[in-house]
Amino acid sequence: MTLHQPTETLEQQDLKEKIKKAVNDLPPMPAVILKIQQLLFDPNSTAQQVADFIEADQAIAAQVLKMANSTYYGMSGKVSSVHHAAVILGFKTLGELCTIAGFSDLMGNKLPGYGYHSDELWKHSLAVAGAARIIAEKIYPQRIHEALTAGLIHDIGKLILDPYVLEQRETFDAFMEDGNQTFLEAEKQILGRDHAEIASEICTHWKFPESLTLAIKYHHHPSLSHGNEMAFMLHLADYIAVLSGSGYDLDEVLDIREEGTEEFLDIHQNDVKSISSEVLASIFKIEEELSISI
Ligand SMILES: [Fe+2]
Ligand SMILES: [Fe+2]
Repeated sequence: MTLHQPTETLEQQDLKEKIKKAVNDLPPMPAVILKIQQLLFDPNSTAQQVADFIEADQAIAAQVLKMANSTYYGMSGKVSSVHHAAVILGFKTLGELCTIAGFSDLMGNKLPGYGYHSDELWKHSLAVAGAARIIAEKIYPQRIHEALTAGLIHDIGKLILDPYVLEQRETFDAFMEDGNQTFLEAEKQILGRDHAEIASEICTHWKFPESLTLAIKYHHHPSLSHGNEMAFMLHLADYIAVLSGSGYDLDEVLDIREEGTEEFLDIHQNDVKSISSEVLASIFKIEEELSISI
């Protein structure tokens, strides 16, 4: 007996091809991100080298300085140069600022299909990155930078899918009319793949490590990730960011939250509460100072 696969219409096949091409046509990973990752993972590199590298790129240097001087880092107006930031904030924080600055242009795009009319996706991504960073600090301190990066780009698949969501908006609305289907299911059903799958394809395209790629693929379903800790961390960070008021809950992360996430990560409810309040405070500062079209 042969298993009967639902056959795709020509239109669906065509759409799949277009989306695949859009992923392949995506520009390479911002060079600044690649270089900063190399520097951060090289035990011989120094804060001086990181600062030299950042200073060589005027646009990134200006963004890094602006962030270093925000109240978020507690250094309002005290940091005069990138080298100064390296001394005050340290090597790793400087690397984080550089990674945030490197993704800001791409992630700051408007996404009318998803209803992000200004920089909502960027604010949400910053909040998830902040939450993931705090969680990593508590349970996997050696993976802080990876957690931050994962948070920044976990929803990057929406960049690719947005024009198709916009084009098919009526089909999406009809699909979800009865209230029983999530937006994620609508993406999968109508476009063939959801934004988490597309995000993981972008990670592969950019040659990110496999563990990060899988974490992003399963950020809404970490139980399918075969125990990928980062997938659980991202899932919790997404939940905390939305709970703390970062943007409207299009992905319905409050509803599709997987039970057992905290248990898997060995995080207690009190920790979730304290992380939420830290994220809430940082979202406020981010919106005040970093939402800036950095
Ligand atoms: Fe998502
Ligand atoms: Fe998200």
